[in-house]
Amino acid sequence: MGLHRILVADDEESMRWVLSKALRKKGYTVDLAADGNEALRQVREQSYDLAIVDIKMPGMTGLDFLEKAREVRSDLLVVVMTAEASMKNAVEAMKRGAYDYITKPFDLEVVDAIIEKVSRARDVSSQVSLLKQELKDRYQVEKNIVGNSPAMQEVYKTIGKVAVSDVTVLIQGESGTGKELIARAIHFNSSRLGKPFVAINCAAIPKDLLESELFGSERGAFTGATERKIGKFEQAHHGTIFLDEIGDMPLDLQAKILRVLQEQEITRIGGSQNIPVDVRVVAATNQELLEKVRNREFREDLFYRLNVVPINLVPLRERRDDIKPLVEYFLTRACTELETPAKQCSSDAMELLCNHSWPGNVRELENTIKRAVILSGDTLLTPVDFGGLADRHETIHAMPQEQSLEAIVEAKLRSSMNGIEKLDRGDIYDRVLEQVERPLIRYTLEKTRGNQVRAADILGINRNTLRKKISELGIQIKKD
Ligand SMILES: Nc1ncnc2c1ncn2[C@@H]1O[C@H](COP(=O)(O)OP(=O)(O)OP(=O)(O)O)[C@@H](O)[C@H]1O
Ligand SMILES: [Mg+2]
Repeated sequence: MGLHRILVADDEESMRWVLSKALRKKGYTVDLAADGNEALRQVREQSYDLAIVDIKMPGMTGLDFLEKAREVRSDLLVVVMTAEASMKNAVEAMKRGAYDYITKPFDLEVVDAIIEKVSRARDVSSQVSLLKQELKDRYQVEKNIVGNSPAMQEVYKTIGKVAVSDVTVLIQGESGTGKELIARAIHFNSSRLGKPFVAINCAAIPKDLLESELFGSERGAFTGATERKIGKFEQAHHGTIFLDEIGDMPLDLQAKILRVLQEQEITRIGGSQNIPVDVRVVAATNQELLEKVRNREFREDLFYRLNVVPINLVPLRERRDDIKPLVEYFLTRACTELETPAKQCSSDAMELLCNHSWPGNVRELENTIKRAVILSGDTLLTPVDFGGLADRHETIHAMPQEQSLEAIVEAKLRSSMNGIEKLDRGDIYDRVLEQVERPLIRYTLEKTRGNQVRAADILGINRNTLRKKISELGIQIKKD
């Protein structure tokens, strides 16, 4: 991790010459730039361990360079050179994140000392920051992914297996099942940890922009390309690129992705140079990719190249055991984030949540909990706080056998509540009860073949009460 490649930027040729000679003699690779713009261009193209830049240069000053360069490579160490007369500049440079400064004129020993210092700092700081990062992320991944269903355990196992290698992973799952979360987990558990994780949503970017987003473009490659642009693949160098919604990638781009996977190099739009990229690809889709292959909307060769290791994220409704721990996890998180006192779910609210079909999967669950936490003034969340849920009819239709009667009635009530309210009559209670009583009595009588005595027994009500209800509710008794 030591110090290898150094960029020297100074408009004075003699200064460049002296420095490069001294540094090369010590075995470093040195690149030279005559002004700030050129230096910045080189920083975009090369990964430097250190840049030594003059503050006063035509075009872009060393200070501006410092700022821009750190946007491109946040870990670049910059040492500025300044004339003794302008200490103010040196101070400003340090404020903007320069690692150190040298005042001109200087002896080469001063440069040696600085290089020595940078070199040691780089070793230590890169180790420390890597370790810190590592601890932080490891910790996070384990805490971030909730669920112990067999389906999720399979996923954990696969993450563990693929993390150590560079194999391509294809994550498939409905919307909101955690595809991006898993992609990150793979990255943060891999040796690429500490390097960039770059995500790009292929469905969210207009087709004609997608290519330059992915591969970058040279200045003048098309109208509006006033500057060179570094694409996502280059940004992800040494790290992981997450190609989200890959099913939406146009066919011609699919061919180009395939090439990157095979050749491990890219060409910027309008460029002729092949630029090597060392990138691990994780792709995700919520579409049936094989189906797309059959329809010739997705290249078969790319499919197999991506699908080296598939991870299938099961919809939440098919791993209901995960719902409760997820609810608890999101509850704690929402309360912490929103800085509200801890809240809990009542058992019937939990039952409602566990029985919902969650077409939007974990994302829907997360949003539902957040909404309830925000809207409820109480520390105990009841079914009322999850009102919106039952409005959705799929709740009832998707899982009839798993719904409690109460949940079904509640769902139904909620979905028709507006209508009831509009009627503005003072007999809602009776009318709602009627609608529960009538089917209940009808069903019981059916089971007892019209025997009112037995029906009253089963229902646990008085025979006369039953008789009265039958006539009030207008129930026809079928005897067979
Ligand atoms: N197992 C899980 N444990 C904790 N949080 C989860 C889990 N799965 C998903 N999430 C959370 O749910 C939300 C949606 O997850 P994510 O964005 O990864 O889903 P996705 O499959 O990429 O969805 P989409 O297809 O809509 O892009 C995120 O906030 C994520 O952190
Ligand atoms: Mg996603």
